[in-house]
Amino acid sequence: MSFIVAANWKLNKGPKEAESFFQEFLSGNEALRSEFETLFFVPAVDLVTANAFLEDTPVGWGPQNIYFEDQGAFTGENSPAVMKDIGATHALVGHSERRHIFKEADGDTFLKMKAAIRNDLIPVLCVGETIEERKVGHTFDVLKRQLSGALKEDVTTSLFHVAYEPVWAIGTGEVASPGQVAEAHDFIYSWMAEHCPQAKGSKILYGGSVKPDNAGELSAVDHVGGFLVGGASLKVESFIDILKACR
Ligand code: 13P
Repeated sequence: MSFIVAANWKLNKGPKEAESFFQEFLSGNEALRSEFETLFFVPAVDLVTANAFLEDTPVGWGPQNIYFEDQGAFTGENSPAVMKDIGATHALVGHSERRHIFKEADGDTFLKMKAAIRNDLIPVLCVGETIEERKVGHTFDVLKRQLSGALKEDVTTSLFHVAYEPVWAIGTGEVASPGQVAEAHDFIYSWMAEHCPQAKGSKILYGGSVKPDNAGELSAVDHVGGFLVGGASLKVESFIDILKACR
């Protein structure tokens, strides 16, 4: 199964920029792209554009957040059923910016995992500790709480992925060392082997200041099955350079 390289554009790019990105992205490097599973998590306003360019390709795409109800009086939310209807394949759940800025709780991530799976979207659950939690030695406790909060009951019988994104490495340029990544991924792998043994196709992605110059080394770390890339996914060239580095 191929290594996943997923882009999280966050609150960047409108439909015109998305269009020129996908045009350029799809216009070359076909052999390189075919070696990887590439995914794009785009702002809500770019979802229809993503579908227009990606629906007949192996490239997956989806929203950065979904609500856990399919419809109703929930002003401002994204319906997972509508995401599926417009062609999305994946959905991010519990990104640290959702957890820390928008106060999403572990209980919410569980409901969103269920909503994604109910609508046949493959969820990518994000977990990771803050620098304060790491400094006092709570990294594994936080990962355990976030994993057990979201991955329970029937959620674990469907395909999902987990992204380890230490909050202190996101958008800071301070990348986790291969040793730190190995330790966290090993913990997540073991937790999943114990608690969701049926999740055979699940990958553990690393995210946090992944760039072309650190991607090669990090991709070789045990149990790193992919990357979730923020800043370096905004330009086609650096995104492609990350693929090249992981070859
Ligand atoms: P950066 O790659 O910009 O650090 O962002 C990581 C991230 O949050 C991806 O979801």
